[in-house]
Amino acid sequence: MRVGLLGTGWMGTVHARQYAKMPDVELHVFDRRPERVAAFCSEWNATPASDCDALLAAADVVDICYPTDRHADYAIRAIAAGKPVIVEKPLALDVADSMKIVEAADRAGVPLGCAMVVRCFPEYAAAHQLVLSGLLGRPAAARTRRGGKAPLTGADNWFMDHRRSGGVLVDLAIHDFDWLRWTFGEVAQLYSRSVRAEAGEGPDYALTTLTFDSGLVAHCESTWMDPSGFRTAFEVCGSEGMIEYDSRTTPSLRTHSASGSVAESPVAATDDPYYLELRAFLDAVSAGTPPPISGLEGAKAVALGVAALESARTGQPVKPARL
Ligand SMILES: NC(=O)c1ccc[n+]([C@@H]2O[C@H](COP(=O)([O-])OP(=O)(O)OC[C@H]3O[C@@H](n4cnc5c(N)ncnc54)[C@H](O)[C@@H]3O)[C@@H](O)[C@H]2O)c1
Repeated sequence: MRVGLLGTGWMGTVHARQYAKMPDVELHVFDRRPERVAAFCSEWNATPASDCDALLAAADVVDICYPTDRHADYAIRAIAAGKPVIVEKPLALDVADSMKIVEAADRAGVPLGCAMVVRCFPEYAAAHQLVLSGLLGRPAAARTRRGGKAPLTGADNWFMDHRRSGGVLVDLAIHDFDWLRWTFGEVAQLYSRSVRAEAGEGPDYALTTLTFDSGLVAHCESTWMDPSGFRTAFEVCGSEGMIEYDSRTTPSLRTHSASGSVAESPVAATDDPYYLELRAFLDAVSAGTPPPISGLEGAKAVALGVAALESARTGQPVKPARL
């Protein structure tokens, strides 16, 4: 499988690390920064492409890890070239662009996946299954939390320009919005407050309340303003039980001996959630089955993110677009 990777930044590197574990993958790479591509290709045993068209010609499958405002253009180019494509989240910056990608893929009969990786994190995948199994009875309330320091590392500091990244609600909270929608069904309304949604730039903190068709209420905290580092957490309460998770207190294997203390998670390299999402997409393409997390699922997550953003900007509750 020849994978054509667009983008050699943070996520391009995370994806390349996963492809390096896959003996059947040959990696081809393009980025607008040629000096970065050369170093990247030597690190990840990949082949550089001279431009985007050359990359599309060399690839069986395309993986887009460009900044979010570039997703729609490049996804549509890849689809027009007939290549199955997986796009990093958020699928695009708004519902219109997200649906352009989804509809282009449908018309062309090209598989389209969205890398909503949180569904592949073991705690989130397990909690989803536990809720669906009925163990908690009727779910009534959920809380999620995600965030840490602002991502100031992106090329051109593009994350801090909310017109390019969607800000903390479209870029970061989207992970939890997607997991909540996947687990509890459609969202009727969102109400959000944030520190900088109106300003449209810089680090932001947001708190969103989501009301679901089922009556469940969730609140979702997302922050780029926590200097103590990245942390995720959730709690789900139902009529028969509850689940709680916190990335800082999750038991991992701690070994203490005369030579010091070691904390490690007893998982194999192929249990990495990023490995699981990319492997599942490639396997679906090979098998001719639908991508496990479709472009439409990605678009529905964008609809929640932009509704929350609109709410934070206007101070009013917003009903998300139903796609
Ligand atoms: N799933 C996750 O956990 C996760 C985490 C971080 C980022 N992301 C997503 O991955 C995508 C890429 O984010 P990243 O952190 O890798 O960003 P990054 O800035 O680290 O990398 C972006 C890459 O795109 C290239 N690029 C091409 N056109 C560009 C342009 N016009 N402006 C700036 N850079 C351009 C840059 O040279 C760079 O190599 C985004 O959509 C982001 O939301 C997902």
